[in-house]
Amino acid sequence: MKAIVLKTFGGPEALTLMEIPKPEPGPDDILIRVMATALNRADLLERQGHYPPPGKAPVHQVPGLECAGIVDAVGDRVTLFSPGDSVMALLPGGGYAEYAVIHERLAMPVPKGLPVQEAAAIPEVFLTAFDALYNQGGAHPGYRVLVHAGASGVGSAAIQLAHQVAMPVMTTVGSQLKVEAVRAFGADRVVNYRQEGFLDAVQAWTQGKGVDAILDFVGQAYLQDNLKALAADGTLVLIGALSGYEAHINLGVVQARRLKIHGTALRSRAFEKKVALVQQFIKEAIPLFESGRVKPVIDRVYPLRDIADAHRYMESNQNIGKILIEVSQDA
Ligand SMILES: NC(=O)c1ccc[n+]([C@@H]2O[C@H](COP(=O)([O-])OP(=O)(O)OC[C@H]3O[C@@H](n4cnc5c(N)ncnc54)[C@H](OP(=O)(O)O)[C@@H]3O)[C@@H](O)[C@H]2O)c1
Repeated sequence: MKAIVLKTFGGPEALTLMEIPKPEPGPDDILIRVMATALNRADLLERQGHYPPPGKAPVHQVPGLECAGIVDAVGDRVTLFSPGDSVMALLPGGGYAEYAVIHERLAMPVPKGLPVQEAAAIPEVFLTAFDALYNQGGAHPGYRVLVHAGASGVGSAAIQLAHQVAMPVMTTVGSQLKVEAVRAFGADRVVNYRQEGFLDAVQAWTQGKGVDAILDFVGQAYLQDNLKALAADGTLVLIGALSGYEAHINLGVVQARRLKIHGTALRSRAFEKKVALVQQFIKEAIPLFESGRVKPVIDRVYPLRDIADAHRYMESNQNIGKILIEVSQDA
């Protein structure tokens, strides 16, 4: 099959289209004929050699944390899916390819009514946002949440999901174009951080009380202000650290105001925990897509052979929502 392989680490030119053996499904696995995959910020790090796949190093390192497609074959013990089913899945890697293999309990049906390709924009960012908001962020009607990088893949998912539980959302973005976009996702208050600081904006928006939860991808540069922006008993969910991981923290603020700092990572999570999240998502979130209450946000679609251009586009921080990669049998 054709796949994008990391033969070396480095810039987008390190992404090499080549023929490699098709993966074989184990007894509990399904083999997916991939119709689309999607980019995630972590793919850029993996390409640079900073985000190795879990477990033993593969013979061919194929990035790609998610895909959507059609079940091509199933292992002997598989009961949940059959050949011909439309599925989407969170992958430990291997999504930039014509075929991918995944344990049946980590695969999800494509929401009814959604084109299969579009479903590739769901697994990584919606599972992350769903888990961060509903399981770790203590989602509750009326609680106020601050979502940083609201136009990112995860941010665009989080804003929509917050609305489903009647949580007012403030979000930060880095351009005027993104201000308009996140309003359309349902953000109640938008801060263009190039024009105003989010801390003052939070204080004004909450009459000095602070927000109940923050979903953050920025880390180092925002930590001090994030802690000041939280209400007493509030939760900071750290999903990424795009500005860096090292930060000075005033423990007095954390202790006196009973704050919680919750780190999260999907890829390294134990199998049973991943399965539990995927099964919870199938039950609670897929109906939201089927009723049209939430939608994957797709910015651009590239063919697999133009994957380097797709990486350059994400690196330029211009994308609003997801960058989809269409995988056809002639790549
Ligand atoms: N923990 C997990 O399991 C998990 C899962 C998925 C994703 N993530 C993390 O979630 C984050 C978002 O991922 P994604 O794929 O949705 O990203 P994305 O679509 O590429 O969006 C990232 C956006 O973040 C903003 N940004 C970049 N560098 C920044 C900086 N130094 N300071 C402030 N803002 C910055 C930019 O938007 P502006 O123009 O608005 O600044 C950029 O477009 C990443 O950190 C990723 O690693 C974590």
